Amino acid sequence: MAHPFLKQLFNFNQKTMKKITAIGLMGVAVMLICSFSELKKVQTNEISIPEGYRNWTHIKTAISNPAFAAHSGFHHIYANAKALEGYKTGRFQDSSIIVFDVLESIPQKDGDVYEGKRKLIDVMVKNSSKFSETGGWGYEEFIYNDTTGIKIVHPTKSQCFNCHNSQKEKGFVFSKYRS
Ligand code: HEC
Repeated sequence: MAHPFLKQLFNFNQKTMKKITAIGLMGVAVMLICSFSELKKVQTNEISIPEGYRNWTHIKTAISNPAFAAHSGFHHIYANAKALEGYKTGRFQDSSIIVFDVLESIPQKDGDVYEGKRKLIDVMVKNSSKFSETGGWGYEEFIYNDTTGIKIVHPTKSQCFNCHNSQKEKGFVFSKYRS
């Protein structure tokens, strides 16, 4: 017969072990859930709005024809460092990212035109192996709406690539960089 103290210690240890096992299992479950949601994020949203793109190189701005309602307004184009290299050399390397930032254009009484709210953001990301079917560029569109938030479009090949394909000789990029 073990000493009562030892028995107590043994019981305590058994209880503690059970607790530790339970906590461990919970930890594993949490890890699994987290990695699953990470996976889901990657699958449903391969391209996101790049952080800090407003600090990248501003390539150009245009005001588009109001007839193209959804895309009308100011078009600002930004390139990350890799993409800027591409604009200069004509060859866009993997990890190049170009952002097409569309804002409302608001005519003022004196004839000036000011920027309004953001309407949408189009993003092109270069990854030759991942997006080999669309010239190595992945295309994504984010539509802004005050009430419903940002809608991710997941455009089809014909919604983006078929038009950009006309610029194949220039790496599928329309705009030109000016110093
Ligand atoms: C009908 C043709 C057409 C379609 C369709 C189109 N684009 Fe473009 N895109 C253009 C043109 C033209 C420019 C250049 C605009 C300028 O220079 O101001 C451009 C510019 C861009 C740029 C800046 C880089 C560049 O090529 O100059 C990005 C990024 C972009 N588009 C993304 C997209 C995405 C994403 C889609 C699909 C949701 C899309 N585009 C659909 C014609 C098109």
